[in-house]
Amino acid sequence: MAKARYPRVQGRKSSSSTLILTMLLAFSFIVLILLALGILSIPSTSGSARKANDLSSIVHTSMVSDGDDRGEEQWVEVISWEPRAFVYHNFLSKDECEYLINLAKPHMQKSTVVDSATGKSKDSRVRTSSGTFLARGRDKIVRDIEKRISDFTFMPVEHGEGLQVLHYEVGQKYEPHYDYFQDEFNTKNGGQRIATVLMYLSDVEEGGETVFPAAKGNISSVRWWNELSECGKGGLSVKPKMGDALLFWSMRPDATPDPSSLHGGCAVIKGNKWSSTKWIRVNEYKA
Ligand SMILES: *[C@@H]1O[C@H](CO)[C@@H](O)[C@H](O)[C@H]1NC(C)=O
Repeated sequence: MAKARYPRVQGRKSSSSTLILTMLLAFSFIVLILLALGILSIPSTSGSARKANDLSSIVHTSMVSDGDDRGEEQWVEVISWEPRAFVYHNFLSKDECEYLINLAKPHMQKSTVVDSATGKSKDSRVRTSSGTFLARGRDKIVRDIEKRISDFTFMPVEHGEGLQVLHYEVGQKYEPHYDYFQDEFNTKNGGQRIATVLMYLSDVEEGGETVFPAAKGNISSVRWWNELSECGKGGLSVKPKMGDALLFWSMRPDATPDPSSLHGGCAVIKGNKWSSTKWIRVNEYKA
């Protein structure tokens, strides 16, 4: 008897589990169809899924603390994906900014631009600042900064040119240009310039913004929009602030030049602008 009943019970059990399995399969199938049709959607975990070029996605993307007591909050902000541009707040300490200015001060010379025909330096009205180069790795403080730039950019220290320190007085500016070269001469050592780290060594009362006139996205969504000069409002702008570092890429990830990296320095309207630039090459740059 027991032997006869046993298979019947099992038979009922397996038919009910088949039913449950079928229902589960049917349910999953319906959910998949709804997902495919876009009627259902999986909620984003961050709650801030936005279009890549929507500059309103400006957020604190990472907290950085390197254990020293600068007392200033350090964090990185994505300001644009076209060009790829990031601001690292309080990258340099006040002491480091003053150190670089004082190193450079006795050696300042009128800035030049590269002649795209000959590759040689030439005087120019499009660039009216004065500046000087500091040899790569010249002392402990400079080496420290260069190491930090390397950590920030993921590019080796050896790919960097020497730091250039620049000074802009009232009315001085740098018209929009590309940092990548259009000639053969300047790419012999290190290849093309791939990225630029621009550090602000002083605050500027008015003007002196770094402007990207070809940036894609909503240029007025930056927090400092209302503080920008007319020139600054001509594109995506970064307002100079002592210690902040702006990183932007002149090349896309596939190593083609990125025309949206066009940038300039707006004329200083009030105050003084000191900045320091690190140009980074695709290959090792023999210093
Ligand atoms: C751009 O951003 C500003 C500030 O967030 C906003 O008021 C404006 O509506 C935005 N414009 C567009 C076209 O999205």
